[in-house]
Amino acid sequence: MPEPFTRQTFADAAALNQAAARLLTTLAQAAVAEHGRFSIALSGGSTPTGVYELWAQPPFRDVMPWPQTHLFWGDERLVPPDNADSNYRQVADLLLPHVPIPPQNVHRAKGELAMATAVADYTQQLQEFAGGTAVPRLDVVLLGLGSDGHTASLFPGSPVNPPEWVVGVTANYDGRPAQRLSLTPLVINQARHVIFLVTGANKAAVLAKVLDGPHQPDQLPAQRIQPKNGEVTWLVDTAAAQNINQIT
Ligand code: 6PG
Repeated sequence: MPEPFTRQTFADAAALNQAAARLLTTLAQAAVAEHGRFSIALSGGSTPTGVYELWAQPPFRDVMPWPQTHLFWGDERLVPPDNADSNYRQVADLLLPHVPIPPQNVHRAKGELAMATAVADYTQQLQEFAGGTAVPRLDVVLLGLGSDGHTASLFPGSPVNPPEWVVGVTANYDGRPAQRLSLTPLVINQARHVIFLVTGANKAAVLAKVLDGPHQPDQLPAQRIQPKNGEVTWLVDTAAAQNINQIT
């Protein structure tokens, strides 16, 4: 049976950001009510910054179960945590100073380390959080979409289904740091909810390919994301949605 799959479009990024902050907050409250904690892998890139800003403000900030919230990242660039290109730094600037999240709940990938060491360290952090070697079931994985079809740091031509939880990656995209690490589909597809945020006309062509085109996971890594027992929600703005077939 195909996984539950939802597409929602919004007039603009501002409306999308409001919906995303509301959805994340609702999922966090439900996760804590159900199993006592909320775990999320955050996305890098420019798309989610407005969501992080909203999450840091009332009304969302005040009803979020921050003490029970655990932050991970779907991918990280191999730069120090205070570097402007660090995905951690983005959240450290926009969200962390404004919310009562315990520092030990912030499980950042250590971009300042050499690639193999950073991969091993991040894998170990995930294992410790999961309490063993079973693939962790994060409550939410938040993802973006690159104009080449990448998501997290899973780029076209990379192994479609590597057995590791975390992989080191070298990929050039948009002048951003090439050395990265990424969660793999093994971990992402174990999540309870995967939420893609896609905005802007420059994503319209690739979004249509990913959602409505032939299955080409080698060239369109976002198509590798198919949770086994979870939901995928695509939150897109009308500019990005202009070429997709149907909205459900
Ligand atoms: C990263 C990301 C990456 C991002 C896309 C989209 O670290 O670069 O996690 O997967 O989400 O490249 O980036 P934009 O949101 O900037 O378009």
